[in-house]
Amino acid sequence: MENEKITDYIDQLYEKKAFVKKESFTSYMQLKKYIPTVNDQEACFLRLLIRLIKPRKILEIGTSVGFSTASMALAAKEYGGRITTIEFDDKAADQAERNFIKTGVSDYINILKGDAVKILHDLNDTYDLIFQDVDKRLYPVLLDDCIRLLNKNGVLLSDDVLFPVIELDEIWNNQIEPISEYNKKIISHSQLESVLLPIGDGIMMSVKK
Ligand SMILES: C[S@@+](CC[C@H](N)C(=O)[O-])C[C@H]1O[C@@H](n2cnc3c(N)ncnc32)[C@H](O)[C@@H]1O
Repeated sequence: MENEKITDYIDQLYEKKAFVKKESFTSYMQLKKYIPTVNDQEACFLRLLIRLIKPRKILEIGTSVGFSTASMALAAKEYGGRITTIEFDDKAADQAERNFIKTGVSDYINILKGDAVKILHDLNDTYDLIFQDVDKRLYPVLLDDCIRLLNKNGVLLSDDVLFPVIELDEIWNNQIEPISEYNKKIISHSQLESVLLPIGDGIMMSVKK
């Protein structure tokens, strides 16, 4: 309840800010029901962080309809940063591509369609920032690849890390245990310095030492 009050207050403060809103990406289709995206507060945080650290190469795992991707791209396009994003749901990926054109960021985004487990394993490029937002059961599975693909001092952002303590629809119950496991692993990982930020459903921010 306290959390809801805090979220509502911040939303009201941000309401008049001119930026691309989640509603414009998700309101028109039933995708909204089963493909969640970051909320507007998280999108604001992503844009601010990108403005601050100016990562040249960004990797996102889990595109959905492209709201977080486009939000990050709006900041990255100002200094020529580029985003590679991975999605295996063709319908979501096609909608994301249309949304990138609509938002004027398609020139800065490369969408890889397929299974993130295989794609990550085969990737050899390195990145300055990785945004992990795929199926939560894959977070522990993909952690080693994320660290391998991250440059020294690169930033790993992992979304939804407060799943173990927030009220969730029961369809997400199978994602709670993997997130618990992931949080413990990442906080004590010898190659990462991490802090859990209570923004949206929780963002773990880690820097590769
Ligand atoms: C939480 S949504 C991403 C939301 C998006 N980052 C945003 O905030 O706008 C997670 C996405 O990961 C995709 N996904 C799940 N498992 C995947 C896999 N193994 N490979 C690629 N994409 C996957 C789902 O289809 C879904 O669209």
